[in-house]
Amino acid sequence: MKKTVLVAGGAGYIGSHMVALLAERDYHVIVADNLCTGHREAVKGAGKLYVGDIRDRAFLDRVFGENQIDGVINFAACSLVGESVQDPLKYYGNNVAGAQSILTAMKDYGVKKMVFSSTAATYGEPEKQPIEEGDRTDPTNPYGATKLAVEGMLKWCDRAYGIHYAALRYFNAAGSNPEAGIGEDHDPESHLIPLVMKTALGQREHIGIFGEDYPTRDGTCIRDYIHVRDLAEAHLLALEHLEKTGESGIFNLGSGTGYSVREIIETARKVTGKEIPAKVEPRRGGDPSILIASNQKAAAVLGWTPKRGLGEIVADAWTWHSGHPNGYGG
Ligand code: UFG
Repeated sequence: MKKTVLVAGGAGYIGSHMVALLAERDYHVIVADNLCTGHREAVKGAGKLYVGDIRDRAFLDRVFGENQIDGVINFAACSLVGESVQDPLKYYGNNVAGAQSILTAMKDYGVKKMVFSSTAATYGEPEKQPIEEGDRTDPTNPYGATKLAVEGMLKWCDRAYGIHYAALRYFNAAGSNPEAGIGEDHDPESHLIPLVMKTALGQREHIGIFGEDYPTRDGTCIRDYIHVRDLAEAHLLALEHLEKTGESGIFNLGSGTGYSVREIIETARKVTGKEIPAKVEPRRGGDPSILIASNQKAAAVLGWTPKRGLGEIVADAWTWHSGHPNGYGG
């Protein structure tokens, strides 16, 4: 019999790629999303989309009551670092109370597996590169703090209720799934690769380079970009790992390779054949100079290695943005 997976936040960018992969691998997929930032059109291949808020217990009773759920993958969260600094309570409410609400329903309905969408922002300013899971966690913004708080909640729920978990700390997710016709559509958009794509499309006059005086090879920040389809595959491996072993864990999801802002723009120029004007602007507050993942643990324990490099990430992002210049809006 097909396994049923609940994807909370399945209408969002990473969540929708998860739904498409689960459907492709013959899982029965249920999506819960309040469509606050997600898009109905992004949900492809799900058995059912429940529209509602994960903090609403009556809503969760409907979702858990109507389906025999084997595992939960939780993407439902707010994820704008800048906004989290302006409005931390929104983040504690959505991300922490939201996770608490889902875990309470899982406990009540006897669902024992959770894959949780965490972030590299749990580390804050890293002690060393590449970053390993055991390194110091000291978030520099409420977004990272709320994700770290949920990781703590998961640890105690595992001990108390036997809910096993994998907390996956993403580095910089990018790319799209051209076959499924889904991609990144945030409003407002703040991430580098989609903004570079919008510049290539002529929707922006230039891409701002936030600072060129960092201690890096070309003075611009270095990040570890990971294809969203590789991320989705890691979630599935994590779910299968929990099923097989019942062993909880925290895993970095990154490529292990860093690229600078200038290198991203250069790659995008080659892929798109467009000029992509760039202008150096002041630093953006709170940006660490380098974030690169060690992905050794995910490789050793989950058997995960990313298959897609930067060229494919940028090419797939370009396919999505050039085919959907207004995102899901047309
Ligand atoms: N950048 C620019 N110009 C832009 C946008 C971004 O130069 O217009 C730079 C940033 O300064 C940064 C790099 O491009 O150095 C990447 O920035 P993003 O905003 O795309 O991504 P971040 O690394 O800031 O954020 C990512 C995730 C967050 C997560 C964070 C962890 O998107 O969810 O990593 O540190 F919290």
